[in-house]
Amino acid sequence: MSRRTRWLTLVSVLAVVSMLSVACQPVGAPAGGAKPTNKLEMFSWWTAGGEADGLNAMYDIYKKAYPNVEIVNATVAGGAGTNAKAVLSNRLLGGDPPDSFQLHAGLEVEKYDPAKYLQPLDSLYTSEGLDKAFPKDLISLLKYKDHFWGVPVNIHRANVMWYNKKVLADNGLTPPTTWDEFFKAGDVLKAKGIVPLVIGTKEGWEAGHTFETILVSILGAEGYKGLWNGQMQWTDPKVTQALETYKKVMSYANTDYSALTWSDAAQYLVDGKGAMHIMGDWTDGWFTSKGYKDYGWAPVPGTKGIFDALSDSFAAAKGARDQVNLQNWLKVAGSKAGQEAFNPKKGSICARTDCDPALFNAYLQSAMQDWSKDAIVPSVVHGAAAVEKWATVYKDILNTFATNGDVAATQAALQQACKDNGVCK
Ligand code: GAL
Repeated sequence: MSRRTRWLTLVSVLAVVSMLSVACQPVGAPAGGAKPTNKLEMFSWWTAGGEADGLNAMYDIYKKAYPNVEIVNATVAGGAGTNAKAVLSNRLLGGDPPDSFQLHAGLEVEKYDPAKYLQPLDSLYTSEGLDKAFPKDLISLLKYKDHFWGVPVNIHRANVMWYNKKVLADNGLTPPTTWDEFFKAGDVLKAKGIVPLVIGTKEGWEAGHTFETILVSILGAEGYKGLWNGQMQWTDPKVTQALETYKKVMSYANTDYSALTWSDAAQYLVDGKGAMHIMGDWTDGWFTSKGYKDYGWAPVPGTKGIFDALSDSFAAAKGARDQVNLQNWLKVAGSKAGQEAFNPKKGSICARTDCDPALFNAYLQSAMQDWSKDAIVPSVVHGAAAVEKWATVYKDILNTFATNGDVAATQAALQQACKDNGVCK
């Protein structure tokens, strides 16, 4: 199987869904006789350092090309879109859509009832050559019900373990490559009064994020993908092992985790208050925005050779106020110049395959290498692997697990969620 066909067995699920086709309405001409405006309203959850900088870099390109258009930057803070997605749904349902909004590539689009609320972007893909600009399996992930609904700006990796180089070196440690090594290193650090793993779970998605990387490590790429496409049952003993591992990992974490966001936890790492941190590579953009350089990175223990992937795209709302402003924005988002300006700041690699690696820092260059050779698996917490209602239940189950620690009940609930979503029998 070629590398690019590896991301998703999930793609086959999408292919089944794709059989229902939706009428194609091109972006480009003002809809319903709408008058041109001088505004473009952009909706995202990018307010943190790095991500906001990347977005602004794309805006700068747009503003230079279209100086008469005012960009209304409608952001709703909260990692992984925790708050933004709910606000967006209400706006779409209420007939007050932003012109364009952040949307993860993958099954997340189902949440927004695309046939009703979104514009298919097929003709833009053709006119801009976007169907040839992105890797094949990203293209498959972007297609839902046979249409493109978003223009991807990046590829992020979820399974990264960041570490404070000095803290590990001062304690004679190297980044752990297995969970046993992690626990041994953790014991050394604990004995010195240092928090081995910094984590924040305040926004409700971070426990699910950490656990998905542990599932990848214990089940491997095929086993993990199987959990989302029905090839693997959640009752499998490996899921038990993953839950037990997660529980033990959390015994090496800071105790105030429920009061911290992902970036608060990253700040602990910067301040030397902890040694390691599991989080997606938007952390690289955040570190860069803080001028922090003394960090190292490694795959989450047990996940070397596997890239837990997600991609941010921008969608076009039906009823957008100005189709021309919107189309021009999507062109910038999909362009080489737009992606080269955005990604080095954002801490992600381009969705396009033709960006210049020399523009990216050492971490991102390593991510490009890994993306080109690793087995690719879809992130669930970041919209790729499952429909939103399943991903939400999954996150809630993990949050309950953090308080009750009940492995058997958690595993049963995870299997039930799979059944409720029609994937497990
Ligand atoms: C992800 C998103 C990233 C970053 C992260 C933290 O869901 O894809 O771009 O924003 O959340 O908020």
